[in-house]
Amino acid sequence: MRYSVILLVLLAPLLIGSGANRSDQELHAIESAKFIALLFNTGRVVVGEFQEVINDKSKGNKGFTTDIFAQHVIEKFEKETKLSWGNLAEESIPPQAKKLLPLLLEAQKSIIQERQTLINLKGVGFKGFIPATFGTTASLRFRSMSDVYLKQTASVVRNSRNTPNQYEQSVLKKFSSPSYPHGESLAETIDGGKKIRLMVPLYYQEHCLSCHGAPKGARDKTGHPKEGGKLGEIGGAISVSLDVQ
Ligand code: HEC
Repeated sequence: MRYSVILLVLLAPLLIGSGANRSDQELHAIESAKFIALLFNTGRVVVGEFQEVINDKSKGNKGFTTDIFAQHVIEKFEKETKLSWGNLAEESIPPQAKKLLPLLLEAQKSIIQERQTLINLKGVGFKGFIPATFGTTASLRFRSMSDVYLKQTASVVRNSRNTPNQYEQSVLKKFSSPSYPHGESLAETIDGGKKIRLMVPLYYQEHCLSCHGAPKGARDKTGHPKEGGKLGEIGGAISVSLDVQ
């Protein structure tokens, strides 16, 4: 069976290097991994967009419910992929992606649900609920719900649960090389063709630098020492590994 290749700004770089001598099954697994990475990142972005609301000291109920979260995630995901979430079953994407995407959204929603009391606290501004902590918990939750490996990682981590393995460390090093093509993901087949792994680079944007920027070593608002990162530098990666089916 063949699936149409979706060429979009964000997805396009993920397809580079995935062509040569790969079976359809391997390509489908890589495509599924790309969708997982995209949906995972979209969840982080939505939490980021609601950061000010979440941090609003004057308000109790923030209205940032699981439904609102899901609605925003789906809207962005659909815009990026041109897929219809409500009609995923009919879309020409791998069955593996059709099964895993709703599961990942469930994992993300369950974290938003569990944090409602925290989010709706009145009188407390910054609550430590940020895209990064959400991402770490959502990735671990999804891993426990599926047989997919999903992680946000960086060469030097703040949370040991995001510690890169040897392979991830070597790809992060490649990503940070000035000669590495900006934005390009890396995918490869492992375990004699039984699994694929994919890494998607994350770059520091302006709003990341209040925590990860300069001066290096100074404490950010979460109490962690800043990394001294600069705008556009590699800030980490999303790592996905799943079975070839
Ligand atoms: C409010 C401060 C803050 C901002 C803004 C922020 N981060 Fe982080 N970041 C953190 C914290 C805290 C952690 C550790 C999360 C945890 O404990 O799971 C983290 C973790 C990460 C990780 C996982 C690896 C690790 O260190 O555990 C990556 C990758 C990352 N951040 C990248 C970014 C990027 C890229 C941006 C901007 C898009 C960003 N961060 C914005 C505070 C921040």
